[in-house]
This record gives sequence, structure tokens and C-alpha cells, in this order.
Amino acid sequence: MHVLLIGSGGREHAIAAKLKASPLLTRLTAAPGNAGIGSLAEIAALDPADHPAVIDFCRREAVDLVFIGPEAPLVAGLVDDLKAAGVKAFGPSRAAAQLEGSKGYTKDLCREAFIPTAAYGRFTEASAARAYVIEHGAPIVVKADGLAAGKGVVVAETVEEALAAVDACFTGAFGAAGAEVVVEEMLVGEEASFFAVADGETVKPLTAAQDHKRVGDGDTGPNTGGMGAYSPAPIVDAAMAERIMAEIVRPTVAAMARRGTPFTGILFAGLMITAEGPKLIEYNTRFGDPETEVMLPRMTTDLLELALAATEGRLKDVAVGFSDETALTVVMAAKGYPGAYAKGSTIEGIADAEALGATVYHAGTAMRDGRVVANGGRVLAVTATGADVAEAQAKAYAAVDRIRWPDGFCRRDIGWRAVTRG
Ligand code: AMP
Ligand code: GLY
Repeated sequence: MHVLLIGSGGREHAIAAKLKASPLLTRLTAAPGNAGIGSLAEIAALDPADHPAVIDFCRREAVDLVFIGPEAPLVAGLVDDLKAAGVKAFGPSRAAAQLEGSKGYTKDLCREAFIPTAAYGRFTEASAARAYVIEHGAPIVVKADGLAAGKGVVVAETVEEALAAVDACFTGAFGAAGAEVVVEEMLVGEEASFFAVADGETVKPLTAAQDHKRVGDGDTGPNTGGMGAYSPAPIVDAAMAERIMAEIVRPTVAAMARRGTPFTGILFAGLMITAEGPKLIEYNTRFGDPETEVMLPRMTTDLLELALAATEGRLKDVAVGFSDETALTVVMAAKGYPGAYAKGSTIEGIADAEALGATVYHAGTAMRDGRVVANGGRVLAVTATGADVAEAQAKAYAAVDRIRWPDGFCRRDIGWRAVTRG
């Protein structure tokens, strides 16, 4: 099969490596890709936002399946347009991607299907949102409804902070994403991410992961796209996984089918494990980054066969498996990230790191004159596996220490919570 992979991050590098291992694959093309993906796939000069150009390419090059990594093309309806043109694509339709594209949409679905989540209100004007904040008091959480690249959420400790967040949304701080606002109860507990795959009707669990969103050691400093992750998540044992499937994931997939917008693709549930049980914080409708860099190395199932089965509605015939090992990834970012950072600095030592048995996924790199250079904020994800989190952590940092990149930095404590848990 000829697969076209859409995306350019560490997630897509990990997906490319897994697709490459499938006996079903005959040709792999990626757009826009990066230096790491380029060692596994042909790179096509294709803008994923230009749907007619993507369709054209698929027809010309006989693409059998389009595998979409990031959320933007899903929310923009790339799957619908490909399908209408007779091209198979793995991922949700524009309508089903609303589970990620609109926080209010997901909250209403939770209410309709009795899915545990924070109590909330949806607002299209500041005065009503402000009144809700004042009525409920702090702490309270204010969210821009639409896609805001992870920046549209304020967990406010005071009413003043919450009111300022409401005003920021309605005065355009997040553009169109903030034209509607969700205000919700603050949940208390430990966060975990849970992944499942669905074909519109059948849904199967994949595995769980935990990430570190803050830029600094000890989970301090500003939020990022994710500075590291590990899988499995010790807090999600088999009993918890079954509760998550029974109380959150299966009711969601059933409700989406009932609404006439069946969900196909990867369902990524961001959860708070509270004293009362798991509660949904939000959905993403795709694999996570950097969670994919720790999930896929553990997956024993053929990813291409799985994606194809989900796309063709025959997921119930496919067994999904993961090794019991722990995988841990450390993200190496450009100095300054998540603020302003420079591009173009040279990275050396990747082969030395991999010689230790680790895998170095490229998140934001490019090739220049035969050298790998930094080309983004998050630049590398260094993954190692071990019998437990402590072993995977030690191996991952040993590999990180072989990478020579003076303009980069990483957290030194990825996995601390799970290591402390013992
Ligand atoms: P989101 O973009 O919805 O994943 O939110 C980003 C982060 O904000 C989450 O990972 C949580 O750490 C936090 N957060 C979002 N909603 C809540 C909530 N209702 N209670 C507590 N923390 C939250
Ligand atoms: N790591 C969080 C995400 O992929 O959205």
C-alpha cells in the first residue's frame, strides 16, 4: 500500500516508523515531514491545507490511505474531502472532529450522554460569562471554545484572574477560537491521557500515558506542547482503564453514532483521575505529541492494519496489543521555548544516542548541507524503554547526554511522579 502521512512533528516521525514496519506498506510519502521523517519516507512538496492539491496527489500517485497526524486538517474537513474524492483517510470527519474543535460541543455531548466532566457554562458574550464566574467563585477554569494550540485555557486562582481571562477571550486574544467561552469547575486529582481507536461503531482501548506540560523541572513555568511523557501511566491500571472505557469512551462513541456523526480515528481523552473516579477534561481527535513517541514503541499491533480496519469499519476483527514495558521520552527544545527561539543551530550526536538503544524522534528539524538543524520549538524527542519508569528514565537521559546541541535544553525530571510512586 502507498500511504501518505500528513504532519511534521515527533508524533509523525513515530507514526512513520511504525507504518514502515508494516508488511502491508509498499511506499510511504510524507507532507510536509521533517529531517527524521525524510529518512523513512519520500517528502512531497504539498500543503495539507490545500485539499484539491492533496486529492490530486493521491490520484496521481495512487495513494491507498492518507494518515493524518495533527488536528487542524481534521477540523478543516480533509477526511471528508478525500472521502468525497474516493480516497481513504484515517481520522474523523469534520463533524466528528468537533470533539476537539469545540470544547462547548464536547461539554454538551457529555451532558447528553451522562459522561463525568466538570460542571460548566457556555457563553457567547462577556457579561453572562462574567456573571457565571462571580456566581461560582474561584478557583475556576476559563477556556476559549476553539483550537488555540493549547494556549486557550486559564486555570484561575482568583475571580479577578478569571474575569480577565473572560475579557481576553472576548476581545480577541485567541482570535475566532475565543468567540465562544466555556467556564467550568476546577477538577482536583492526577491527570492522565487515555487513547482509544474507533471505526464509527466499535471502539477499542489502546493504552494510557502521562505527559509534562510545564517547561521547567518540578512542573513549574509556562505551559508547553509537552516536554516529555511516559507510557503506561501507573495511575491507569486495568480496573481504571475499564472504568474509563465504560463511563467515558464507549458512551462518547455511542452518542456520536446516535447524532449521525460517527467517530472514526484516534480518540485521546485528557482525564482528571479524581477521588470520585475519572472525569473528562477534554478530547483530542488524534494521537498526542509527545505521547505517541512513548505509545507506539510499545504497540505490538500493525498500525497500518489497525488504521485500515478502522477506516473500513472492521475494527472488531483486529486485536490490539501493547508490551508491558515502560517507554519514556524526553523532549529537547530550542532555548527560549515556549517563548521566542532561534532556528538553524546544528545538532550532533543523534547516532551516538541511538547507539545506546534509544530512539531519537525528530520533532522540529531540517537538513541543511547534510547537517541536522533545529527548525522548531520542540526539536527532538528521545525515547527509551525499560522494565519500569526508573529504568526507561535512566536510559533516556543517558541518550540525551550524548546529544551535542548547545542551543537546546530539556527537563531533567521527566517521569518524576511515576518514579516517586515506586
Ligand atoms: P486543555 O487544553 O483543555 O487540555 O487544558 C490544559 C490544561 O489545563 C489541562 O491539561 C489541565 O491541566 C488544565 N485544566 C483544564 N481544565 C481543567 C479543569 N476543569 N480543572 C482543572 N484543570 C484543568
Ligand atoms: N501532548 C498533548 C497533545 O498532543 O495535545
